[in-house]
Amino acid sequence: MAIHEPNPLAVMVTKAAGVLAHSVYEDYVQSLGLAGHERVLDFGCGAGTPARYLAARLRPGVGHLTCQDISHVWLDACRQHLHDFPNVTFLLGDITTLNLPPHSFDVIFIHFVLHDIAPGERPPVIKALARVLTPEGRVFIREPLHYIAPSEVQELWQVAGLTETGRHTEHIPTQGEVYAGEYARR
Ligand SMILES: C[S@@+](CC[C@H](N)C(=O)[O-])C[C@H]1O[C@@H](n2cnc3c(N)ncnc32)[C@H](O)[C@@H]1O
Repeated sequence: MAIHEPNPLAVMVTKAAGVLAHSVYEDYVQSLGLAGHERVLDFGCGAGTPARYLAARLRPGVGHLTCQDISHVWLDACRQHLHDFPNVTFLLGDITTLNLPPHSFDVIFIHFVLHDIAPGERPPVIKALARVLTPEGRVFIREPLHYIAPSEVQELWQVAGLTETGRHTEHIPTQGEVYAGEYARR
């Protein structure tokens, strides 16, 4: 699995963009309607911009957030950004080899990550994510349309046994047109 470590400038710019465009992340996380008791996996958490809003939705001692990334630089940035949340775990590594317990997450959150993964590496990643999702679990994914087609996202989840249960597209000034999909087992 390819790992692209960012340089310090990229981390700085990303953090600043997260502050300036906070509503892009905050409004989306609020729209998911999390109840607060869920075990959430933020796959490809990056600097943790949406992760902070996820963590804030989860009730301490009840809900739990796992921030996972393949890059140690991004994961360290995320760890710093969320240092004040007690109910967050940070996990470095490749989801296809981490061997997490099956059915260990109620929600998988994927925000601008899948398009960054080489097309040939996407099917095993989705299969590994489906394995750690509970039978009633839900997946929320948002990706830029410029880099990945919704039909590919649908097909990848379909093969892994999940179907699209909701979708919308919207325009985000920093990302262009984006697709937001929700998936669950049939
Ligand atoms: C564009 S950033 C998005 C970060 C964050 N989700 C957000 O919306 O701010 C893409 C992130 O996906 C991570 N990533 C790329 N390939 C990955 C993989 N195979 N497994 C886990 N994370 C991956 C990158 O390291 C990076 O942190």
